[in-house]
Amino acid sequence: MGSKALYFLIAFLLFAYYIYSPIPENVEEPWKLIFISAAFRTLGHVSAIAEKLGFAHFMDIMLILTHMEYTAPTSDEKVTVTDTTFDSVPVRLYIPKKDPHSLKKAIIFIHGGGWCLGAAAMGSYDYLSRWTSERLNAVVVSVEYRLAPKYHFPVQFEDVYTVAKHFLQDSVLEQYNVEPSRVCIVGDSAGGNLAAAVAQQVLHDPDIKIKFKIQVLIYPALQTIDFTLPSYQDNDNMPILPKSLMVRFWSEYFTTDLSLNKAMETNKHVPAELSHLFKFVNWSNWLPDRFKKGHVYASPAHGSPEFAQKYPGFLDPRAAPMLVDDTKLHGLPLTYVITCQHDVLRDDGIMYASRLREAGVPVIHDHADDTVHGALLFITSPFILSMGQRMANNYIEWLSKNL
Ligand SMILES: *[C@@H]1O[C@H](CO)[C@@H](O)[C@H](O)[C@H]1NC(C)=O
Repeated sequence: MGSKALYFLIAFLLFAYYIYSPIPENVEEPWKLIFISAAFRTLGHVSAIAEKLGFAHFMDIMLILTHMEYTAPTSDEKVTVTDTTFDSVPVRLYIPKKDPHSLKKAIIFIHGGGWCLGAAAMGSYDYLSRWTSERLNAVVVSVEYRLAPKYHFPVQFEDVYTVAKHFLQDSVLEQYNVEPSRVCIVGDSAGGNLAAAVAQQVLHDPDIKIKFKIQVLIYPALQTIDFTLPSYQDNDNMPILPKSLMVRFWSEYFTTDLSLNKAMETNKHVPAELSHLFKFVNWSNWLPDRFKKGHVYASPAHGSPEFAQKYPGFLDPRAAPMLVDDTKLHGLPLTYVITCQHDVLRDDGIMYASRLREAGVPVIHDHADDTVHGALLFITSPFILSMGQRMANNYIEWLSKNL
């Protein structure tokens, strides 16, 4: 063998070693997922290096993918798409062209991306909203809320809340020909977090007379106090959303100060005085047995009180909707929760479904055993996964029957 061939072989093996990540056995199209995951991981590594060298904030480099996927608002023969603002918050609006005078359903959609990334205008979200609007003959309002690290909590929450409050007025719904009893709120991942938080606040806001018919929470992030749940342990290094990235998203939502991030990584950010909050996320009570397998419940460690004092946002239910009493959950609308088995956020969604049920809220829980976090993003080229298309299809089917 010539030395060139040897170099080539070594380079190839190193490349293969870098690209390869273990994928759960039951996931379809494993090689596609390995390549998508390698692309995401590479971007993560480049962002981390740029940050270490002081060139840019980690999220500013990560955001490149969002910018690359920017899609201009483009109408077609079925849906009119426009960018506009609701009470100064930018939204992308999808209005179906069919039966212009019939009363329509409506969806407020909130994209994911860890409060730092993503956009309503991103190819995959734009495609999903257009598809939903056409398939359901519904008005879709996709919110372009402001992102961290430039803006921290509660800006993201408030942008979405402002849009919801504006839209849920008789005069506005009338303008768009929307039936007031058929409006729902939907979000995935960090968008699911914002949807759940907004739905709770809308329910108790006396100034908002029209309430949501449904909330759809797609692999949502719902709690900030325990990052050692079984799903966090089992999926520590799963493709798309490893634990380190999820914890970084959480800390970045509240502050760019990395000391909160470090405390969250070791689960030492909640002081002993607040240990009563752990009952809201006690997986020993709220997880069905099949998800507890191989885990033994231990009360979480306590940390220094400085974080809760400096960044009280992380204990605010508008950021962590699971940290409320059952009385606050009672009366929430029909809830459709989608969770993925191979996802650090799996148990957030499952436990919220259990808690809502206990509080008397009608809940439909759809658990996908063979999917990873973020599956719904992979419905447009070059990143298409059949698990994503299946999930999008199921979700739209369910909404078309229930909204
Ligand atoms: C969690 O639930 C278990 C079982 O019900 C209980 O023994 C434990 O004290 C609870 N811990 C907290 C912090 O709520």
